[in-house]
Amino acid sequence: MNYKIGVISGDGIGPEIVSEAKKVLNRVADLYGHTFQYEEILMGGASIDACGVPLTDEAIEAAKASDAVLMGSIGGDTTTSPWYKLPPNLRPEAGLLKIRKALNLFANLRPAYLYEELKGACPIKDELIGEGFDMVIMRELTGGLYFGARETKEVEGIMTVRDTLTYNENEIRRIAVKGFDIATKRRKKVTSVDKANVLDSSRLWRKVVEEVAKDYPDVTYEHMLVDNCAMQLVKNPGQFDVILTENMFGDILSDEASMITGSIGMLSSASLNDTRFGLYEPSHGSAPDIAGKDMANPIATILSAAMMLRFSFDLDKEADAMEDAVKQVLKDGYRTADIYSDGTAKVGCSRMGDLIRERIL
Ligand code: IPM
Ligand code: MG
Repeated sequence: MNYKIGVISGDGIGPEIVSEAKKVLNRVADLYGHTFQYEEILMGGASIDACGVPLTDEAIEAAKASDAVLMGSIGGDTTTSPWYKLPPNLRPEAGLLKIRKALNLFANLRPAYLYEELKGACPIKDELIGEGFDMVIMRELTGGLYFGARETKEVEGIMTVRDTLTYNENEIRRIAVKGFDIATKRRKKVTSVDKANVLDSSRLWRKVVEEVAKDYPDVTYEHMLVDNCAMQLVKNPGQFDVILTENMFGDILSDEASMITGSIGMLSSASLNDTRFGLYEPSHGSAPDIAGKDMANPIATILSAAMMLRFSFDLDKEADAMEDAVKQVLKDGYRTADIYSDGTAKVGCSRMGDLIRERIL
């Protein structure tokens, strides 16, 4: 089959990691008889430099015209990059928020599991890791605090700011349905995370989740407060299957979950709407400090590309081949700097891409 992939290489390490993912995808295309046609789409700092804004209407149209979008990372050093002298709505991150909203990508899936080979890189003690963990965070991505009205102004001589957090029941219901749906294909447990002891938005969240849960009698579910969840993730990560949560909590908890896998460089993600379309990106940022040094870990991007094959193109065999190749490369002892430990072979970004490509069967 022929697939049209929009590619947002972005900023920082983005172009390096995306080019490794393309290497691996091209090998899959050759072996399995597909054609992947790439179209570069500008977003973030790269778009600011070329067009003056972090995302143009043409870029949104190009993304919509693709079967799926593969993204690297956007943004720069917030203290030194000129992009951060611009008003907030013209900075790189605004492009990412805008494309998520424009494409209605409300469901953000972030799987976090521990590879046996990376146990040594996991900062949690062995006795707490136990048999390891395998969870997916289902993060609401187009509502809540990141999309509410905000303002900064002086009130009687004092700088005062306001951010607002709004959800309606429909927005909560559709993400809850996605969370329960995915749980039915996994270990059938949903942990819905909120702050219902304080926030109205969380109280509505709980109520809607309970309604949705009635349609999934074979999925067990529980509510957990977000502060407790942050603690449980490092105390007993094995207890989680699907973590269902709102936008900001999911942002924070997914970084925490990624860290216990050994490195943020391992965590892939898929942002989905109600069609087969999706935007696939590593959960980590643009790491400007190591950009252009061939040091980045391309695995999260390669695993994101595998998710694209699985969710948008229905190519399960091919996605398995990519995930197996990643497992094999770790088994064979190759590591990028972020997951390096004594007794393993340290390789750069490009070599890691080559090694994974060679292991596609
Ligand atoms: C992420 C990132 C983004 C987010 C930023 C860059 C806007 O942290 O994808 O987790 O908060 O969603
Ligand atoms: Mg984040």
